[in-house]
This record gives sequence, C-alpha cells and structure tokens, in this order.
Amino acid sequence: MTYTDKNRKFKRYTVTTALPYANGPIHIGHMAGVYVPADIYCRYLRLQGEDIFFIGGSDEHGVPVTIRAKKEGCTPQDVVDRYHSIIKKSFEEFGMTFDVYSRTTSATHEKTASEFFLKLYNEGKFIEQTTKQYYDEQEQTFLADRYITGTCPICGNEHAYGDQCEKCGSSLNATDLINPKSALSGNAPVLKETKHWFLPLNDYEAFLKEWILENHKEWKVNVYGQCKSWLDNGLQPRAVTRDLDWGIKVPVKGADGKVLYVWFDAPIGYISNTIEKVGDDWRKWWQDKETKLVHFIGKDNIVFHCIVFPAMLKAHGDFILPENVPANEFLNLEGDKISTSRSWAVWLNEYLEDFPNKQDVLRYVLCANAPETKDNDFTWKDFQTRNNSELVAILGNFVNRTIVLTHKYFEGKVPQTFELNETDKSAMEEIKAYPEKIGTLIENYKFRDALFELMNLARLGNKYLTENEPWKTIKTDEKRTSAVLNISLQICANLAILAEPFLPFSSQKLQKMLNLAKHSWTQAGSISLLPQGSAINTPELLFERIEDEAIQKQTDKLEATKKQNLLNNAEVKPQKENISFEDFEKMDIRIGKVLQAEKVAKTKKLLKLTVDTGIDQRTIVSGIAEWYKPEDIIGRRVAVLVNLAPKELKGIESRGMILMAENALGELSFVGCDKDFNAGSIVR
Ligand code: MF3
Ligand code: ZN
Repeated sequence: MTYTDKNRKFKRYTVTTALPYANGPIHIGHMAGVYVPADIYCRYLRLQGEDIFFIGGSDEHGVPVTIRAKKEGCTPQDVVDRYHSIIKKSFEEFGMTFDVYSRTTSATHEKTASEFFLKLYNEGKFIEQTTKQYYDEQEQTFLADRYITGTCPICGNEHAYGDQCEKCGSSLNATDLINPKSALSGNAPVLKETKHWFLPLNDYEAFLKEWILENHKEWKVNVYGQCKSWLDNGLQPRAVTRDLDWGIKVPVKGADGKVLYVWFDAPIGYISNTIEKVGDDWRKWWQDKETKLVHFIGKDNIVFHCIVFPAMLKAHGDFILPENVPANEFLNLEGDKISTSRSWAVWLNEYLEDFPNKQDVLRYVLCANAPETKDNDFTWKDFQTRNNSELVAILGNFVNRTIVLTHKYFEGKVPQTFELNETDKSAMEEIKAYPEKIGTLIENYKFRDALFELMNLARLGNKYLTENEPWKTIKTDEKRTSAVLNISLQICANLAILAEPFLPFSSQKLQKMLNLAKHSWTQAGSISLLPQGSAINTPELLFERIEDEAIQKQTDKLEATKKQNLLNNAEVKPQKENISFEDFEKMDIRIGKVLQAEKVAKTKKLLKLTVDTGIDQRTIVSGIAEWYKPEDIIGRRVAVLVNLAPKELKGIESRGMILMAENALGELSFVGCDKDFNAGSIVR
C-alpha cells in the first residue's frame, strides 16, 4: 500500500504518458519531462504491489506529421510508420515498462474516437459554428495555422507562424499575421467560410473551477498556476474538427474533408490503447471511481490535459477524471531550447547506440536534473560529472568495496553479525527510514529529491564502511569485521531494491550479484535481507567512468548541428549597386601559384605567402591562417587581384589580394581553378 493514499484507498492506478508525435524520434527533453518520471512512478507502484496499467503510444495525426511528410516528400503514413517504430524500439531498449504502446492510426482508435465524438454529437454537446479560415486557392485547401507564415504583429519577425511567433514567443491567431503567406504555394491566402464543431468550454468553466481550483490545490504549482490563469481569463468554445485530409474523418454527414482535431482524438488514444490491450476489461481502468488516473506530460500539454480533455470526459459522462497531472517544465540542451525541426536534441535512439548498456546513466542524469519546478539545462559535461562522481564514485564504489571485501575475508559468504554496537544500531535506524522517505517523495512526484535520498543511502554506506574500517579490524577483531561487512551487504541489498524504479538495469545486476531474492518495496529498510552464510557472486562494476573522448564526440556532433543550422538560416546579402563593364575591367585578376607560406609572427589570422603570379613572384599577406595551414597550401592555384594598391601589414609589404569565398560563419575557402592553368592566366 502506498504511503500517501492511505486515507483514500485506490484499488488501482491508470498512468498515462503524453503520446509523442510520430514526426521525429524521441529526445531527452521528452524523456526528462515525461517518460523517466512516469516509469519511475510505475515501477515503484508495482513494487508496492499496486495494480496498475501504464499507457504509452504514438500520436500520429495532426499537422506536425503532415509538415514532416511534405518536407521529406513522402506520405504522412510513411512518416508515422517510420517514427512509430523508431520510438517504440528505443522505448523498449531504454526499459520503459509500458503495459501497452500502440498508435492513433490503429483501427481500434479510429472506432473509439469516432464513437466518442458521435456520442457527444448526438447528445447535442457540440455547437456548430461557421467561421472564416485562411484558404489556399491554388492548392484548393484550407490552411492549418502552422501552414501560414507572416510578420508578427508584436515584434515584427517576418517568419512568424499562424499559431505562434518563435522569436518573441507570443501565441497568435493566423488572422493576426501581417502579410500572411501560404507555406504550400507561397501565395497570399484568402479568408473563406467553413463550418466546424466546437466544444463549448465556457459551459464547463464552473465545474472546472471547482474541480481544479477548489479540490486540487495539491497539484504542482506550475500546473495549478497555468490552470488558474486559463480559468481566470474565461474559457471559450474550442473547435474539435479541422479542414485537413490527415486524421480521423468526422463521422457525420456533410463533413467531407473534415477530420477530428488532433487534440480531440489523441487523448482518447489513451483509452483506445487500453481497449486494444485488455478488451472489455478496459472499463475498470477508465470508469471505476476507485481507479486513480494520473497523466504525465510536459508543460505545453497542460491546458489539454487539465481543461480540454476533462471537459470532454465530463461531457461524455462515463469517465473518471485525472487525480493528478504532474507536468514538468522543459529541459534545454547546452543552453538552447530543444527543437525537433532544428535537430537540436539528443535523440534517444542515437544515445542508445553511442552509449550501449548505459540506460541507467541517462535515467540517472535526466532524473537528477529533471525540470520539475523550472526549465533546466542538460549539458554533456554535467552528464559526465554525474556519472563519474556520483554513480561511479558513490554508488558503484560502495557496492564494489563491500563485495570485494566479502570475498577477501569471508570467501564470498554473507558473514555473521554477532553483536551490534551503537554505530550499527544508528545505521540500522537510518536504513529503516529510507523506503518511506523515498516512497513518499515518489508519490508526491518529487523524483529528483527521491533519487537524492537513494544516493544518500549509498553515501551512508560509504561513510559506514570508511568509519568502521573493516580492513583494519580484520587483524585484531574478526567478529567486528564480520558485523560491519554484514551490515554493508544489507545496505547493498536495500540499494538494490530501492534503486529499481530509478536504475532498473543496475538494480537487476546488483540483485544478481547479491543473489538477492525478489522483495517488495516495504520489505526494504531491514538489515536481514540477505541470510547469513548465503553466497555472493564475484563483483562486477555497476558503472564505469565516461572519458573525455566520448563526451567530446557528443559535443562535436552538437557543434556540427549548430553550424548547419546557422548555414541553413543564413540570410543571403542583398546585391550591390550595378557597376559598368569598364569598372569591372579595372580589376586585374590572375591565377597565381603559392610557392611559400608561413605564419606571420604574433598574429592569429595572417599568413605571409610568396605567390607566382606569372608576372612576378611577390609577397602577399592573407588573413586565412585560421582556415589553412601553411604546409597544406604550398603548390596551390589561387585567384589573385594583382593590381590592388600595395599595403603594409605587420611591417610586411603585401602586393595584391588572394580572393576567397566567405560563408555565413565567416569561414573562408579558396576560389578554385579546376584545370591545370599556368600562373598568370587571366580571370574575368
Ligand atoms: N503529441 C502531443 C505532444 O507531443 C501530446 C499528445 S498527448 C495526448 O505534444 F494526450 F494527446 F495523447
Ligand atoms: Zn513576434
């Protein structure tokens, strides 16, 4: 039984994780915000013997998918097939313990979502409204907000989207944009009337206010705060259908070309996925008042899970509502917002490839640094430090020392305790408190603090071992050594059980090393988990150091992405004023050959070159030292402006200029002559 729900006993738990859009792989931002905490929560509840159903799945409708398809020149179905399987596989490898991982393009989901819509439709829970939406006449299609770009009315950014300006962060309506343009044809869209069904959220305002603001004051401050501000501003009817050809068809007559809005169908996906897995049994997970429903999501999903989906469930009438929605803030990456479209991310599938068998390291770092109360930053340096000086130096080291000493002094058997002294008893008292301390924190969604307490137990172990010095007492007092190692082994066993939700792979490994029988959460806290005389296996390292090279490889990868993004977004400089042919003819440009090259002393950028211009051999000082090494350019053919007035640079007379191409990053490249032309050949 859990610690905090003692007063109100729930019979079972339904735990959902936001269904990720299948428009790209999963990244560490998703993991830290949603999946790592949810998996910790579920693993913990199982160890508590609770009956739970843990739901995941891919969100395969919506405009993000169609945009990706357009970019890649394939169909939306191709996109979701590809990413659904990448995401599913990486979740499996990472050790997510979903009871189901399905997808919103499944037949079950189409049926479930359509029936949900129809019930509300038939009971008159929607209002029909005709509004004016942007329409692309050339493409003959209505435009989703994301498909319209234009100038932000707030900050003047010329590349704002119809739903949001990424420069100033304002959320916008497509009709707010100045000079709107269709992303499909590039033409200005026209406003055209279209009919949609709306859920009148305003009708649910009073209910939501009471349910959240009065009855769920215990929700996380960030979640409660966002709900309050939505509710204080007053709710308006929200369209639950869209003009789009990718999605679930609106199941009523006269709705050709219309689909359910992705935020209407996706949360119903939680229910469909349950049905898909357990059939008729699904009702107990969604309709029984004794089931505790918890949604794990990121902060951008709060309004949908706390306001829109509950209003839908309420309108339907047969469903329970979430007991809690422990949304996290965002994780940034090396100081920048994670972005799938800009490829600024650490992708889970790539991590698993680059760091085989290190799932727990990522779990540890993402939990220790989880954005629970504010946005946080992931850096590879921090990843390395947390591995080397926490997992290796604290947890791994304690376990290893204990098991090695047990083999050294007691032939790998759990030694006897004999008599406990005061130090032992106080250690025992401390150990006893850990299951409840960590469990209560988990139940309150304080996963970072919970993990910190787990590490405190390892710290306690290290301190206990260091202070009692079994390697010294072995010479004088074998019984004392025996007792100390027994207790140290018991601490290892406690760690093995209590680490399971956080570090499942290492917990397994440790349980095997200790030959520890399966225990429940509440059996931890004792110092008789390992029977005296039972055999311990030879020690294996739980964690290994991560060296600088591995980290460098990752930061190089990010550097390359950053560069690529800068180049992709670089603005091309506008053309200069026209010149006459005579003006052009004044420049005497020749092919020259580099004969000698050396760095100019005390400068970073300058090379002193001796160039054969065909006319003569002359000295030219060139600012290319950051991009070319002297030894690499000797013999190279280059373009030289030979009649540039001579100039003294660092005391050297430079006669002419080497022509270079410069990219948006300021990198320089020689302008080539790809045939073996003589020095002195004219360029024009
Ligand atoms: N796909 C959405 C996102 O990534 C989350 C959908 S959660 C669900 O933001 F409830 F709709 F499934
Ligand atoms: Zn703006």
